Amino acid sequence: MTTLVTGAFGCIGSWVVRGLLAEGERPVAFDLGDDPWRLRMIAGDDVASRVTLVRGDIADRDALVGVVREHGIRRIVHLAAWQVPLCRQDPARGALVNVVGTANVFEAARAVAGQVERIAYASSAGVFGPPSLYPPGPLRDDAPPHPATHYGVYKVANEETARVYWEEHRIRSSGFRPLSVYGPGRDVGVTATPTLAMKAAVLGRPFELRWSGSTDLIYVEDVARALIKASRATLDRARVYNLHGSSVALGEVVRLIETAWPAAKGLLTHVEAPMPFATALDDTRYQRDLGPAPPTALVDGVRRTLDEFARLHKDGRLDARELA
Ligand SMILES: NC(=O)c1ccc[n+]([C@@H]2O[C@H](COP(=O)([O-])OP(=O)(O)OC[C@H]3O[C@@H](n4cnc5c(N)ncnc54)[C@H](O)[C@@H]3O)[C@@H](O)[C@H]2O)c1
Repeated sequence: MTTLVTGAFGCIGSWVVRGLLAEGERPVAFDLGDDPWRLRMIAGDDVASRVTLVRGDIADRDALVGVVREHGIRRIVHLAAWQVPLCRQDPARGALVNVVGTANVFEAARAVAGQVERIAYASSAGVFGPPSLYPPGPLRDDAPPHPATHYGVYKVANEETARVYWEEHRIRSSGFRPLSVYGPGRDVGVTATPTLAMKAAVLGRPFELRWSGSTDLIYVEDVARALIKASRATLDRARVYNLHGSSVALGEVVRLIETAWPAAKGLLTHVEAPMPFATALDDTRYQRDLGPAPPTALVDGVRRTLDEFARLHKDGRLDARELA
């Protein structure tokens, strides 16, 4: 039962690989990057000997089909993507990676008809627009999409791509919409800010959080767990799920960090600039189909992240480039 993880060197991908290894699998880790430092940090220094590493571009359909054939892939967890800032900088290339790349994953499954049982992929809460467009309260799974960014538009396209592959080719899939993922390994993208604040706290550096207001913060391991569960489930159709962690104001996150790490008191500040994204998601559909899956409490996730950063710092392995 080999699982292919695309974007395996990224934040969520590293946690998915770690989860699969813990369950005794030897996944195929596919990524364009040439240094799996995040994967080593999350899954252990010996990770290269416990997975099959394949360097490749998700935009290269033939390469992807080759990997799926050669390694007898039965499940795919698809995470290779560009995030909001890169898609904004270069929308055409962003569409190639995020939209064509996702179509390629489905094409690879189609090319080996019947071999791939299921695709689990990351969509995003970026499919939704600013809170002003919706009724008050957590956004339901069936709330209408109103993406405010190119990135969000590409995610809507991916969800629709998945639906058509089910309708035309009976390829089963589950897409997940996290909002703000935090935890060890999170370092790029607009919503990486809370994790960067935790890293700054451990390093004793001042840090300004560049947005404020409320968001739905979900611990990265919870997202990985959802993807792994879905990749093994017996659900049919093309399903899409909101994910929910803790709906919280950024000021409260700062308070939690300072409580868990008193030396950080006074180092963390934030500007008053709410993000144009949803502030809370309702995950009823996920809990119904794949639950119960209670989210990690924020206080525990913050503690675990700080502890992990402290351990890495002690070993001289805490990467802090993105704080510069
Ligand atoms: N992190 C979040 O808060 C969040 C929220 C919602 C959705 N998501 C989605 O989850 C998925 C994973 O996010 P992440 O936080 O792990 O991102 P990440 O940026 O940490 O990792 C993405 C990985 O994809 C790889 N990649 C990029 N272009 C590639 C290409 N052309 N071919 C092969 N690999 C390529 C990168 O090298 C990187 O290792 C993405 O689809 C993202 O949009 C993330």
